[in-house]
Amino acid sequence: MKEKTTFYCSACGYETSRWQGQCPSCRAWNTLVEAPAAPKAVEKARPIRRAMPRKLTELDDRDELRFSTGIRELDRVLGGGAVRGSIVLFGGAPGIGKSTLLLQACAGMSPGESILYVTGEESERQLKMRAQRLSVTREDLHVLAGTDINDVIAAIEDLSPDIVIIDSVQTVYDPSLNTAPGSVGQVKQCAMEIMQLAKSSGFTAFVVGHVNKEGAIAGPKVLEHMVDCVLYFEGDGSLSYRILRAEKNRFGSTNEIGVFEMCREGLREVPNPSEVMLAGRPAGVPGTCVACVMEGSRPILAEVQALLTPTVFTGARRTSNGFDYNRLYLLLAVLEKRGGMNVNACDAYMNVVGGLTLDEPAADLAACLAIASSFRDVPLPDKLAAVGEVGLTGEIRSVQALDQRLSEIARLGFSQCVIPARIRGELKAPKGLELIYVKTLREAVEKTL
Ligand code: TYD
Ligand code: MG
Repeated sequence: MKEKTTFYCSACGYETSRWQGQCPSCRAWNTLVEAPAAPKAVEKARPIRRAMPRKLTELDDRDELRFSTGIRELDRVLGGGAVRGSIVLFGGAPGIGKSTLLLQACAGMSPGESILYVTGEESERQLKMRAQRLSVTREDLHVLAGTDINDVIAAIEDLSPDIVIIDSVQTVYDPSLNTAPGSVGQVKQCAMEIMQLAKSSGFTAFVVGHVNKEGAIAGPKVLEHMVDCVLYFEGDGSLSYRILRAEKNRFGSTNEIGVFEMCREGLREVPNPSEVMLAGRPAGVPGTCVACVMEGSRPILAEVQALLTPTVFTGARRTSNGFDYNRLYLLLAVLEKRGGMNVNACDAYMNVVGGLTLDEPAADLAACLAIASSFRDVPLPDKLAAVGEVGLTGEIRSVQALDQRLSEIARLGFSQCVIPARIRGELKAPKGLELIYVKTLREAVEKTL
């Protein structure tokens, strides 16, 4: 008899018994993939009760819940260390450094923790070589080079480790499902089994997940719903810098980022990201301006570059990298209408140097000044930064945490900063930093270009 199959939507996890071109739930096209249906249970006896409700006041609240991974930037993104018993999903493009980071974390974790590292991608020898290169030596680090989920579960039961690392979830498979490893059903099933085990035995799991070409973790979206924390490791392929950010965190904020540099000896933490983001900044050229954004509790400076060229064909081109595309459209419209610049006749390209994504309106003013500078082909002063939100009427609006931003700008040796006029008198300029107060975008352009 042919086995009955079901289909999963790889975008939202919707289950259906028949294939359709469009997912009825999330309306995405071509996302339904086949997975075998779980065998129907026959006349099940009521299972033994395992979970009991308890009073909130009686629940355990001992505070050794968090532990350090030994890597400060990773601890920061996790919200001050990893939470015991939690499941952390690590996403990132191949070769970005996920395995390297986790192996280094193995070395950094306190000696009392026993660790099981399941590697489905590399052989024992390869892992050993990598560990030697990273100078990771640890007695209680056990390595399992296998991909069968039953082996993984048996190893966890044998060793009862404190920490389990699965590298990667797409390589482990459950032989009782007759689909290929990495398929949606397999990933979902294996992740579910690991999760249930983690919740019952209390180990912390770090699970690596590949990303597909759209940049999302390959496999069902439900994977991200199931885990406690989703971290993405990103970076510009051509640069050695890597940024770790939290997409979801049940135990902390999702604003913090961790910055690393990939070098010969593995990943090195970068405690001063602004310096990295501004390294190699060109001097005296039009189309660049420095912005300051808050990444969680830290202010970080970044260079925004813009290039405007006359449109050759009908319909101006706009592309942006590291800056919201729709926001770029909006700022160009404000510059056209309120700034008196005919940017609609130009193709506009925008890029944020260093792989950072500026998703804070505080970067608007710097973006507009970079565009205006390229449009007029006049450079801004080298030691100038700009902070402020641009409103639709061309007004410059105030932003939060301005004093922290100004200190960082001054610390990096800038001598001038354009800021919203509204906060005049409310804060003291850091030593050596001249504040240029502006009410409107037009005024900002006039005072700086
Ligand atoms: P890796 O951690 O294997 O990436 P992932 O697990 O995300 O696929 O990182 C591989 C890349 O990192 C590879 O291009 C080589 C580079 N690398 C270094 O530059 N230095 C090192 O010490 C290590 C271990 C890797
Ligand atoms: Mg790897």
